Amino acid sequence: MNRKKVIVLGSTGSIGKNTLKVVEALEPDFDVVALGCRSNVRSLAGQVREFSPRAVAVAGTLDREAERSLSELGQVRLYRGEEGLLEMIAETEADLVVNGISGSKGLLPSVKSLETGKNLALANKETIVMAGTLVSDLARRIGVELLPVDSEHHAVYTLLHNRKKEEVQEIILTASGGAFRDLSYEQLKHVRLEDAVTHPNWNMGAKITVDSATMANKGLEVIEAHYLFDFPVSAIKVLIHPQSYVHSLVRTTDGFLYAQISRPDMRLSIQDALTYPRLQRSCIEPFELTGKSLSFEPVDPRKYRLLSLAYEAVERSGGYAIAYNAANEVAVEQFLSRGISFLEISSLVEDTLQDDWSGSTSRIEEILQVDQEARRRTVEILKKMKRIA
Ligand SMILES: NC(=O)c1ccc[n+]([C@@H]2O[C@H](COP(=O)([O-])OP(=O)(O)OC[C@H]3O[C@@H](n4cnc5c(N)ncnc54)[C@H](OP(=O)(O)O)[C@@H]3O)[C@@H](O)[C@H]2O)c1
Repeated sequence: MNRKKVIVLGSTGSIGKNTLKVVEALEPDFDVVALGCRSNVRSLAGQVREFSPRAVAVAGTLDREAERSLSELGQVRLYRGEEGLLEMIAETEADLVVNGISGSKGLLPSVKSLETGKNLALANKETIVMAGTLVSDLARRIGVELLPVDSEHHAVYTLLHNRKKEEVQEIILTASGGAFRDLSYEQLKHVRLEDAVTHPNWNMGAKITVDSATMANKGLEVIEAHYLFDFPVSAIKVLIHPQSYVHSLVRTTDGFLYAQISRPDMRLSIQDALTYPRLQRSCIEPFELTGKSLSFEPVDPRKYRLLSLAYEAVERSGGYAIAYNAANEVAVEQFLSRGISFLEISSLVEDTLQDDWSGSTSRIEEILQVDQEARRRTVEILKKMKRIA
């Protein structure tokens, strides 16, 4: 039997580690041919020992200790820097790339994967938020698959299968409400970093956990759904579902709601992307509904300002969604280093979006330029706020 050759990008992060767990559970169907991370060489070295890839890429700059750890990688081919990561993707023969890189740095690796004819399992939602049309067109032109790994988009992708577009009235994305779901807007003024990085239902990286608490994550997902499913943003709704069992729903024009339900565990959608187009027996325990309750609540727009801003950004088209993402990345980084308060994340994004981001973003260079300019603008605002020198 031919083993499927897989490249895992962001292998040392939450998505990457879950991907390798699924591969381990499904052995011997998969051959992990390459791994990539930013700087966590120690963790990467353990993965190299376990999965014996032909190549690894370390995209970031390394401190002395991480440089020393490079020797632990053994005989594997090593690529360095962001360019090196792209070279590794281009030069390594593979059937599928799983992109679990966090943030906008995931965009070029996604594009390179598609350009070199590899199917792409996409956890990196920023790829679609920044370049949805370009990336979807590219996948179509090259004739490769774009497989959503984000649990909500995997759910919608599955629910829309074999359905005509005109039969679908609404897509409903569910949101857990994040770490501060039960707090009032007033109470959000006093929340601590330690609490924001603890998610009630999911175990994820720090950035996406903070994004869940502000609902920037759901904002990015609304934009992602709009491009991935070519669906008007006005027909994409969000509901708070505290238990995170229902990943998303679609409402059909004949009045039915269809939902996808499972444990909140990323290994499920990762497995489907890995085994596509086959469905394979799940590597985790089945989910039982007995004894579980499901509840749904509307979103409070004042408390989750970043969700409304995402709708506004995508409605305004041009580069607003790119600026939204870039400003949020800078703001969350500041929050994670204790430079700003939790509520200042959304006000920073809102202030950045006051600029004119309506220019063309049809080429990758234009997209990257808006991303850079929006970051610069957010940093300028931070300086005015005297939060950075
Ligand atoms: N976690 C989830 O359950 C989940 C669910 C749905 C969607 N997603 C999406 O998946 C993506 C990853 O999320 P995560 O929670 O897995 O993040 P994470 O735990 O923070 O991991 C990020 C991974 O990306 C690598 N990385 C960061 N910057 C890089 C760069 N410039 N070049 C190459 N690699 C880089 C990191 O390497 P180092 O370890 O060396 O820093 C790490 O391996 C995000 O877009 C997120 O929105 C995540």
